[in-house]
Amino acid sequence: MIKVGIIGLGTVGSSVVNILRENADVISARAGVEIVVKSGVVKNLNKDRTHLGIKISDNVDDILDDEEIDVVVELMGGVEEPFEVVKKALKNGKAVVTANKALLAYHRYELADIAKDIAFEYEASVAGGIPIINALRDGLSANHIESIMGIMNGTCNYMLTKMTNDGVAYDTILKEAQALGYAEADPTFDVGGFDTAHKLLILASIAYGIDAKPEDILIEGIENISRDDIAFAKEFGYVIKLLGIAKKDKNEVELRVHASLIKKDAMIAKIDGVMNAISVVGDKVGETLYYGAGAGGNATASAVVANIIDIARSGKSKPMLGFDKPMEGKLTLKAAGD
Ligand code: HSE
Repeated sequence: MIKVGIIGLGTVGSSVVNILRENADVISARAGVEIVVKSGVVKNLNKDRTHLGIKISDNVDDILDDEEIDVVVELMGGVEEPFEVVKKALKNGKAVVTANKALLAYHRYELADIAKDIAFEYEASVAGGIPIINALRDGLSANHIESIMGIMNGTCNYMLTKMTNDGVAYDTILKEAQALGYAEADPTFDVGGFDTAHKLLILASIAYGIDAKPEDILIEGIENISRDDIAFAKEFGYVIKLLGIAKKDKNEVELRVHASLIKKDAMIAKIDGVMNAISVVGDKVGETLYYGAGAGGNATASAVVANIIDIARSGKSKPMLGFDKPMEGKLTLKAAGD
């Protein structure tokens, strides 16, 4: 039996508990072992969580120091606090699964270094339920990656879709995205483009071995896009989408996040609502396209649980960022604005 401890029982954490229970038949058959959530940690004990049927405390050490816990799932959000928690979990020999893209945007190389042979997985950190990490790290590993481009933030795509199709006002639709559980705790991360940047940086590490931080790249959000801009774009046959873009040109990789005008007939223009879509071009495979729900409890938890199953199956880690040795010196980040 594999025992799991979950730190953070919000929308995604609760869905992880439910999926492990509701789909226990296929999960244990695929993992070859039973997987159970032993305990959870939350900030606020006052909320009723008896329906989850697990032991709950407000002290992370109740999970980190519990010798019975094999896998720690980190869903607490933030950067420095989860960094300390994940480091301790790895030092205590526990496998870690996280959905925390902000943590990885800043500390992925340090964590890969600490994890070494301990499994550390993060499929849910980019594009929710779409197995894009798996595709890039495993499925396309024979390729030089020429470009990665796509819609990586469900909240912004949901907002832009509603503004385009129904003419709904920005503030109204942001509140709706928050109520649906798509937005970050601080929605500035979504609408300011930072969440897309975090995800792009994670993908750029896997594709190129680029060790860059959000401060190193161009990031623009959708805060200044008005209904007039959208109507104007529509009149000329375009839609506006927030894109994360990575492009390799000789020995340089350009990383940027900004709203783009897309011709209304293009495939990516038709991606509506909370859905994400990412195109990856490899030098041998050509273009591949990945589509699915980029946010929401069940979609994100589906990726978290897939990582737990993978760990239960093999018990061993893959190189966390896809490269045993980073490609430093071979590919460099193109300066923003060049
Ligand atoms: N706030 C994020 C989004 C959640 O809207 O895409 C999933 O990473």
